Amino acid sequence: MVQIYLDSANLQEIEEALSWGVISGLTTNPTLMCKEAEPFEFLVKKICALMETNPVSVEVLSTIAEGMVKEARHLANQAPNVVVKIPMGVEGLKAVYRLNQGEEKVSCNVTLVFSVNQALLAARAGAAYVSPFLGRLDDIGWDGVGLVREIIEVFTRQGIDTRIIAASIRHPRHVHEAAAVGAHIATVPFSVLKQMARHPLTDIGVERFLADWDRARRGEEIGR
Ligand code: E4P
Repeated sequence: MVQIYLDSANLQEIEEALSWGVISGLTTNPTLMCKEAEPFEFLVKKICALMETNPVSVEVLSTIAEGMVKEARHLANQAPNVVVKIPMGVEGLKAVYRLNQGEEKVSCNVTLVFSVNQALLAARAGAAYVSPFLGRLDDIGWDGVGLVREIIEVFTRQGIDTRIIAASIRHPRHVHEAAAVGAHIATVPFSVLKQMARHPLTDIGVERFLADWDRARRGEEIGR
């Protein structure tokens, strides 16, 4: 079954979303992290603790492999459920490859993926996850969900077990389309998660049921 991750670094949002029982992991990025008041490392530890054993993606800031590997090892030491997010590119591939050698392997999520070839290279280098950004592709007039579908087709045909995270989700339709094409995971901002749970007809339905209940208790007839 498709897993829903929360795309957020906000502690209140995380606690609230966790209480719904629908969240299996979490992704952050530098933009989300820097919006929060808490210091970076405190936030990483706190989020990882709230998420218990579920994976938490935290992104490196370095742009060269050496620095990425160093940062990744430091992040991985903060909590056992950290997944290190590495931006796609040659330096990112080198870092993922190195983080998968030796005894202390670090689980990597290759982010900012915009083509099947990028996803393939990330998987070959050893990524546990790839994150195609469907909203940002839609923004430039391309087909974000189409990319997710193509990556799934190629990975399935090739027997690649790297997990595909549909990222840069902008609205509930993105989530249902990502699930329909077979994404393993959709990472969703809290605003979209709330939209997913609601429907105007559900609200109208509840209101009407309660109004009927009150009228019946006052002895009024309930018309159909
Ligand atoms: C995913 O891992 C990213 O944090 C996120 O989905 C980016 O989305 P945006 O394009 O809305 O910034």
